Amino acid sequence: MTNRIETEKAKKSCIDYYDNVYQDYYDTYLDELDKKPYDKDFLTRFLDLIKKNDRILDIGCCSTAQQARFFRDNGLIVTGIDLSGKCIETAKKNFTGISFLQMDMLDLNFDNETFHAISAFYSIIHIPNENLDGLFFDFNRILKMYGKIAITVHAGDFYGYFDENGIPVFYRTYTQIQLKELLDKHGFRMIEIEQRQPVYDFEFQSERIYLIAEKTKMRMADK
Ligand SMILES: C[S@@+](CC[C@H](N)C(=O)[O-])C[C@H]1O[C@@H](n2cnc3c(N)ncnc32)[C@H](O)[C@@H]1O
Repeated sequence: MTNRIETEKAKKSCIDYYDNVYQDYYDTYLDELDKKPYDKDFLTRFLDLIKKNDRILDIGCCSTAQQARFFRDNGLIVTGIDLSGKCIETAKKNFTGISFLQMDMLDLNFDNETFHAISAFYSIIHIPNENLDGLFFDFNRILKMYGKIAITVHAGDFYGYFDENGIPVFYRTYTQIQLKELLDKHGFRMIEIEQRQPVYDFEFQSERIYLIAEKTKMRMADK
């Protein structure tokens, strides 16, 4: 059963945090992808599984919309969502050709089978355990059959509040086993999963998990 108090507290911490740091993120990470060949290669492999003009949802696009812009520039129809109003406002002001919506990934307001693909780069790191089943159920629901999903997270066993610039934000890491179980339970087949070291000295020094999976079963009825 969902622990509403924990969910609401974690959500509020994210809004407070990203509504505060959206401009720093924009200034620091705008062109980060150009400096990360590992991430670009991963995104390119993901793109190879998707057709031009397919619809993709980028979850947690932030103010920088790094991944959303990559998908747009490679011929996809892109929707970017984020919980933070400031992030969405900034992305809307700076980038064209992408539909930006302020939306909580825990309340995905899209019809069944809307998208051919979903990307969630370092955004499910802000989701408490009690919400994961509902979230992965919804990933399945809004994806078309054989739709693809790319997820990246920090690896490890941290679970709690991380105090950065005096604003505590709910943050958690994952293990490969956890992610494999969630995807399997919610009708996905793993295509690739890799854990990488912090190879760039300018990034937060953590191990990271990168995975791509495919929806192979419908999970409509038993949320
Ligand atoms: C670490 S940033 C990652 C940004 C970007 N994807 C990247 O890789 O550079 C996490 C983003 O997820 C967003 N986020 C956190 N919880 C969310 C939720 N429940 N629904 C939608 N977005 C959320 C935050 O507002 C933030 O912009």
